[in-house]
Amino acid sequence: MAEAAPVGVFDSGVGGLSVLREIRSLLPRESLLYVADSGHVPYGEKSADFIRARSQCIAEFLLERGAKALVLACNTATVAAVADLRERYPQLPIVGMEPAVKPAAAATRSGVVGVLATTGTLKSARFAALLDRFAGDVRVITQPCPGLVERIEAGDLMGPQTRDLLAGFVEPLLAEGCDTLILGCTHYPFLRPLLQQLVPDSVSLIDTGAAVARQLQRLMEARDLLAGGSASPCRFWSSGEPQAMQEILPILWGELAAVDKFPG
Ligand code: SIN
Repeated sequence: MAEAAPVGVFDSGVGGLSVLREIRSLLPRESLLYVADSGHVPYGEKSADFIRARSQCIAEFLLERGAKALVLACNTATVAAVADLRERYPQLPIVGMEPAVKPAAAATRSGVVGVLATTGTLKSARFAALLDRFAGDVRVITQPCPGLVERIEAGDLMGPQTRDLLAGFVEPLLAEGCDTLILGCTHYPFLRPLLQQLVPDSVSLIDTGAAVARQLQRLMEARDLLAGGSASPCRFWSSGEPQAMQEILPILWGELAAVDKFPG
């Protein structure tokens, strides 16, 4: 029997593995390909043109390997490139990320929500439109987090440097009365255990990995693209140091796996 076509997933680095895990858990029959653009991480402060060019290069690579759907498992790449990719590949299901403003606005009791994300995401027209549409009377305080993605790429999820950096971002939000924090970058769900030490139990942490997996399922179902057999092992590429990603995979992905050099 011919192998089922895979789903292609990419991110500026290893953060998108938080989304990949949700996809694997919801759609265990799907074969998955993952590209980490770790040679160019972080995307957060880079120009939209640069991120669009990288996203296009990675999308082409994944399509050459037979991808039947694409997931931009990166909030910053989504704001810069998802519209362009949808225009180029109108037949292809393409799913992007968005900060969870709608569920956070529904969940808050204090009426104050904090958003942790990159500067690129927070400055985007897409984010402004989300606020217009869903924030209503809720006060939304944004907090760019320079340096945090780099800590996660280095595999430092609980160390003192990461703790101090994260505390510096979160404390002002708590002081303003935030009871709901949006994790608006796919790297940040890996900091949940640390965040839970830094915020009171009454503060909810919200990310959109599971919602993105459900959206992928809906789009593929509508086009009759869901796989019926068993999945091949996930394949990984990195434009940075494949060895470094290979070492961090057991922590972030839960399994050892080979990582190849991304050629672009
Ligand atoms: C980054 O590369 O700066 C973060 C990626 C994201 O926004 O998810």
